Amino acid sequence: MTGATMVTGADGYLGRRVVSTLLARTDDPLVLAVRAADDTELATKREWAATAFDAAPGRIRVVAADLRQPKPFVDVDPATVRRIVHTAAITRFNVDRDSARQVNLEGTAAVCDFAATCVNLDRYLVLSTLYVSGRHEGPVAEHRLDDRGFVNHYEWSKWAAEERVFGEYAHLPVSVLRLPTVIADDDSGRVTQYNAFHHTLRLFFYGLLGLVPGNPATPLSVTTAAFVSDAVAHLLDDRAPRGVFHVCADPDDTPALGAVIDAAFAVFESDDWFRRRRILRPIYCDEPAFDRLTSAARSMRQAVLSDVLGTVAPFGGQLYRPKTFQTDALRSAWPGCAAPKSIPLVTSTVSHLVRTRWGKTQQEAP
Ligand SMILES: NC(=O)c1ccc[n+]([C@@H]2O[C@H](COP(=O)([O-])OP(=O)(O)OC[C@H]3O[C@@H](n4cnc5c(N)ncnc54)[C@H](OP(=O)(O)O)[C@@H]3O)[C@@H](O)[C@H]2O)c1
Repeated sequence: MTGATMVTGADGYLGRRVVSTLLARTDDPLVLAVRAADDTELATKREWAATAFDAAPGRIRVVAADLRQPKPFVDVDPATVRRIVHTAAITRFNVDRDSARQVNLEGTAAVCDFAATCVNLDRYLVLSTLYVSGRHEGPVAEHRLDDRGFVNHYEWSKWAAEERVFGEYAHLPVSVLRLPTVIADDDSGRVTQYNAFHHTLRLFFYGLLGLVPGNPATPLSVTTAAFVSDAVAHLLDDRAPRGVFHVCADPDDTPALGAVIDAAFAVFESDDWFRRRRILRPIYCDEPAFDRLTSAARSMRQAVLSDVLGTVAPFGGQLYRPKTFQTDALRSAWPGCAAPKSIPLVTSTVSHLVRTRWGKTQQEAP
């Protein structure tokens, strides 16, 4: 397998889409690096890949690579790898610091160490998050960012991983793609991976949460997996410039939190069941009040309340820190780039959530 593209986290939500896009748009052989605890799990993941992807025989190879190991890629010949897309990470906002350090920071360093041995490497893309900006407020540029503090260990670990890439591994042909929250597979609004965005809206829909942490004026950037995999395919091309790219809508098309909540409730209110329950729109609460509420729920051992707030709390701090993400580098590297329109995307996504009752019904209700 010479001239291969290796995708880490190839069975993750975005990894799968990146693999499908590269299969469709390139002729590259692909190495799918997956976490597998043992031969049985690896065999299961190989079977899954054989049915999940429409690939010619021999075009994909699935290898076990646990990023918690110091040398995860012993089964891959570095001379055969021309491009790497690093998507693997622990992506839970409530991840503990040690696990985040081990997989997201040291794991990225392990991928970099391997990349440094790939003598034919042309391109190395690292998927990151817009929230490496942490507690920063105001415009965020597409370059290395300083430490302004973080609202959770996930953000910190992704920032620290970027620091390693920009420092020790700056000689690699690397690009960093910072992503917003992915809320749907594509513009249709179909959801196949649920995250804090979807879980929080579910709490509002069922009347389990009567307040919103955050400032209604805080911009909230959202996108689709289709747009991200399209960006990966473009920026992986040999002709694309290298750099840091914010893979998101322009600041002018980034709605405020209040507009997102309004769009969601407009969809909720078109549902008969929701209207009959007469559930009111949630009230915005300031940060000290929200912090008091979450710590009171913890100390009172209110399991249900604590679970509900636990869904929202690990990213709630971001909703008090207004910032916009510049996209000049992305626009210049990818002139035809068209990010999904944010409010129509929120509307189609929430419509999907309501119709399927957050994936509970097999078939969408009419
Ligand atoms: N989706 C978003 O909204 C979003 C937003 C911003 C940034 N990102 C970034 O985009 C990337 C992909 O995100 P995603 O949504 O596709 O995440 P995901 O669905 O959670 O997939 C993560 C992948 O990483 C793998 N992984 C976890 N621990 C590993 C380990 N120790 N060794 C090797 N592989 C490991 C997982 O394998 P197992 O499942 O087998 O553990 C899985 O394949 C991440 O870097 C994330 O930080 C995503």
